[in-house]
Amino acid sequence: MCADSAQWQQVNRPEEGRATVFALKSTLKLSGGRTVDIDGQGFLICYRGRLQAWKNECPHAGSPLDWIPGQFFSEDGEHLICHTHHAVFDPASGDCLSGPCPRGLYPLPFREAGEMVEVPVTA
Ligand code: FES
Repeated sequence: MCADSAQWQQVNRPEEGRATVFALKSTLKLSGGRTVDIDGQGFLICYRGRLQAWKNECPHAGSPLDWIPGQFFSEDGEHLICHTHHAVFDPASGDCLSGPCPRGLYPLPFREAGEMVEVPVTA
């Protein structure tokens, strides 16, 4: 395996208005120099024909956004909703449109690879 492929994982391209959830490792640096590996998630969406990838971590209190695993969109499909305190996000920009968030969603890189999409292993 080359070094570059170790940084990416392939996931299915989501259908319009849907999301594909994927595992995402993070390393937290503690005082004193220790590090802790954390298992997190990212999610890839298709909104109005365009893909976007975000960390599944609400910028308000850090909880996962999905109200049912893999369900991020509002009923009308026009927004992403955090299930914890109901912050509302723009699916295209990640901006927080309403709710207690101090900022928008954390973007992740992605690259299209034929029928699949490559997303990062770590963030
Ligand atoms: S944790 Fe998402 S709005 Fe509070």
